[in-house]
Order: sequence, then structure tokens, then C-alpha cells
Amino acid sequence: MGTVAAQFSSSCWHQRRRRGLLSLGGVRARLLFLYLLVGGGGLISLSSAARPSSSKEKLQVQKHLKRLNKPPLKTIQSLDGDIIDCIHISHQPAFDHPFLKDHKIQKWPSYHPEGLYDENSVSEGPKERTNPITQLWHMGGRCPEDTIPVRRTKEDDVLRASSVKRYGKKKHRSIPKPRSTDPDLINQNGHQHAIAYVEGDNYYGAKATINVWEPKIRQPNEFSLSQIWILGGSFGEDLNSIEAGWQVSPDLYGDNNTRLFTYWTSDAYQATGCYNLLCSGFIQINSEIAMGASISPVSAYRNSQYDISILIWKDPKEGNWWLQFGSDYVLGYWPSFLFSYLADSASMIEWGGEVVNSVPEGKHTSTEMGSGHFPEEGFGKSSYFRNIQVVDSSNNLKAPKGLGTFTEQSNCYDVQTGSNGDWGHYFYFGGPGRNPNCP
Ligand SMILES: *[C@@H]1O[C@H](CO)[C@@H](O)[C@H](O)[C@H]1NC(C)=O
Repeated sequence: MGTVAAQFSSSCWHQRRRRGLLSLGGVRARLLFLYLLVGGGGLISLSSAARPSSSKEKLQVQKHLKRLNKPPLKTIQSLDGDIIDCIHISHQPAFDHPFLKDHKIQKWPSYHPEGLYDENSVSEGPKERTNPITQLWHMGGRCPEDTIPVRRTKEDDVLRASSVKRYGKKKHRSIPKPRSTDPDLINQNGHQHAIAYVEGDNYYGAKATINVWEPKIRQPNEFSLSQIWILGGSFGEDLNSIEAGWQVSPDLYGDNNTRLFTYWTSDAYQATGCYNLLCSGFIQINSEIAMGASISPVSAYRNSQYDISILIWKDPKEGNWWLQFGSDYVLGYWPSFLFSYLADSASMIEWGGEVVNSVPEGKHTSTEMGSGHFPEEGFGKSSYFRNIQVVDSSNNLKAPKGLGTFTEQSNCYDVQTGSNGDWGHYFYFGGPGRNPNCP
């Protein structure tokens, strides 16, 4: 079935892309059929202690893997153990979504926001020297045109999740809510943050250059990440969020590597959304960057510093939210219909770090945020976000007005903002977690 669909769409792909649109025609009908065929089964619960034993449970995992891993046109083995499958652009997981059956792939954003800082100027040298980054799997080859690289999900990846249904999803309520006095929100299931944010306006995107590190994770069920949040709505059950950055998550990936990731939800992490391409939603157009793949190299203490730039913006013509990585890679977009509030605009932008503290009551985890060092230490030692900008209603990148900061326990993880000519608005953030002041 995969081969027939591949032949069908590659023959019309070249004609149709000249018009800038790709209609999926018969492929979509077949994919929808596949979706209905494999997607409707019941859900099973897996605990990490008790792996599925019955053949029914094994079958559920296999079905889920079959749904996630589309037939590849080429396969690349990465040094970190990942397998990168080059999937035809019209066979990507997004098109399993029933609402996307008539979707025409948008080949390129209609508008691109204009910025204050040109990435190319970075090599001419801010005072602090930084370096560009790529992905580790590139050493094993590249994906052909009209395909997208997809990190293959292995059986073990799914088995590490609490259930097949929760695989690739965040736990509920992990959004930092500044100025909250609700004690439940101060320690949301152990999620801790150190962030900068803006609110009180309509935002159409955000950008930042994020220092990349490989923080130590104390327990496999914890994670550490650095990201941008694009938020819509209040902090209720219908919160909309689009997220991108880097993360270390042993549970999700089975190792301690630093990986590029995205996330989206339209209901505060309940039923909708997922990491990367692990559910239908994000539509990728780029053949060079794989979601969830390791980024390399990473920064070292008092040594070379590496950073990635991330831009998320709403195309004013089509309404979709686009994602760009670095200055060269437009990765793809989240269709506007996935969201309620974000179908119009964002009401808040957050930049910064998050960790999970799962150590039992009374003690704090030593999982690191950022570099594992506090902001006071500065460049080369503490992790940073630089050239922080927001996209306004005229599709211009602007300095954020009224940048606030928030952290639940500044003795564990902290944040400090500043601004200068080279870095515009920036902040240092993070920390070691457990220490004499954060027992
Ligand atoms: C990840 O790091 C922790 C310690 O920081 C270590 O105990 C664990 O074995 C590592 N996991 C893998 C898969 O390498």
C-alpha cells in the first residue's frame, strides 16, 4: 500500500508544487483508511515494572508503531543509535488526522517576519563567541528531496511510557504561571521553571537564540529542557500552547542526549497534542532537520559555546504557525485549525527552562537546568537565551516590552535578565537543583 501511494504522489508532486500547493488526492483516502483501521483500538496501560505479556497488548504496541513509522524511501543510521527514516512528505503522520484529509501542503510561508538581529551578523562576532550547530545523524547521510526525516519510534520507546496513549505526551499542567498564588501551581507535579515572559498584548510569534547544553538528569522519569512557549487563553483546561527548544528526556528517548523538540496542545496537555511528530498535527516541509534528533556538539563549561536560534510565527495570510530553526531551515507549520485561542493570536510568550523534580517530599532533585550553573556565573558557565524578540501584528520582530521573570524556587534554579547592543534582550538561567540552599 505504501509503495502504491508513494508512486502516486511523487508523480503529481512535481507538477503541483509549481503552483505552490500539493493536493493529496487518493493518498489521503488511503491514509484515512489506514488511520481508521489501526487507530480505533482500545488502550492498554503499561507500567515500566510490568511489560506487556499478553499477545493482545503486544499487538497494541505493534499497531501503534505501525501507525507512527511510515514506510521509508531511505533509512539512515545515526551514531547515537537512532534510525532516521526518510518519509515521503505526503505520507507524514500529520495526514492521519481526519481534519487534514483535504489539506493542501503549504510549500512556504507567505510572510517571514523581519528582525532586529540578522543571524549572519553573529559570525562577525558578538563579544562572546558562539558557534552554529547541526544534527548528529547528518554524518550518516541526508534525506532526498520531497521527503522528511523522521526519528523512528522503537518498541522500547513506547514501552517506557505509562501507556500507549500517553507515549509522546507531556503530563498535565506543566506550564509555568507567573505571579500565581495558588499553591498547587507553585509546585505543579514537581515541574520547576526559570523563565522570562511577556503578557498583556496580542503576539504573533517569538524568537530567541538558545545556548545548548547537556544537563544531568538524576532519575529517568525526570527531564530538563530549554524552550519557547507561545501561549493562548488563560491557564484553564483549554490552554493552547506551541513549544520548541531542546530537551534531555531519558523517558522519551532512552538516553541522555540533547535533542531538538517541539510540542503543541490545545487543551492544557489533556487529550490533544504531542512531542515532535508523535501524533497528527505538525506538518513538516524540511528534508534536513529531524524532530527529536540529537543536536551536536553541545557547550562545555569554560569552553566552546553553541546555540540554536528558534523562530515561531503566525503566517498572517494562511493563519498557520511556522517554525524556523537557525537562519536556514524552515521546518514546517502547525495548521491554525488545531487551536482555539491561537487561531487568532498568542496572549503570552515565555522563554526559559523547565525540569521535573520527582524526588519524594522533603528533598530536591539534583537534575540540572541549563548548564547546571546559576546565572551569576555568566557567559561560558551559565546557560543563556539571547536576542529575545516577539512578532507584532505587523509581522515585525520587536524587542519584548515589560519582560518579567518567574521561578518557583530561586535557590534551586534562577533567572537574570539584561540587555546590550549585541545580545539585545537576554537572560541567564538555570542551576544545579539540590545544593545547600535547596536541600
Ligand atoms: C543518564 O544519566 C544518568 C546520570 O546522570 C545515568 O545514571 C544513566 O545511566 C544515564 N542513562 C543512559 C541511558 O545513558
